[in-house]
Amino acid sequence: MMHLAQVNIARMKAPIDSEVMAGFVARLDEINALADGSSGFVWRLQGDEGNAMYLRPYDDDRIIFNFSVWETFDDLKQFVYRTVHAELLRDRKSWFEQFDGAYVALYRVGDAIYATADTCTHGEASLSEEGMLTGKTVECTFHFGTFDVTTGEPTGMPCEIPLKTYPVKVIDDQVCIEV
Ligand code: FES
Repeated sequence: MMHLAQVNIARMKAPIDSEVMAGFVARLDEINALADGSSGFVWRLQGDEGNAMYLRPYDDDRIIFNFSVWETFDDLKQFVYRTVHAELLRDRKSWFEQFDGAYVALYRVGDAIYATADTCTHGEASLSEEGMLTGKTVECTFHFGTFDVTTGEPTGMPCEIPLKTYPVKVIDDQVCIEV
């Protein structure tokens, strides 16, 4: 049986034991317990304290990392967007910084993979997190605007500005994006 591995990498705005991060840290046990009991949950990285906050795989001490495994994408989506976990997603800018460089959303349409800028041109929504892909159309669930992911062109109001697109090549099962 195939499973889905999900990795999160984020840079905290301040040390984990700071006042800035207190709201995030206070909800860790609750959210991890929710994941553990969710349909389709298989495994998550954790240490003695029941979470992955101890792990620092990068030189930067503010970068945290977690990793979980799910039976299907729908199981993961249900947990991430349709439970109280979504509250943490909405508040993430209070705790985490934006990384430098391009944020890219990837889409599988049939056998092809397409890449666009991740941020909806109508607002601040992340299409990789808030978008719903149907065929070659991604709908931004913030205000229900749509784009053709193969061209970046807006196809439904209120979106009027095209998304930047990036060339994608698949080489030996590796997805390579030119940004
Ligand atoms: S932020 Fe995407 S449609 Fe408004």
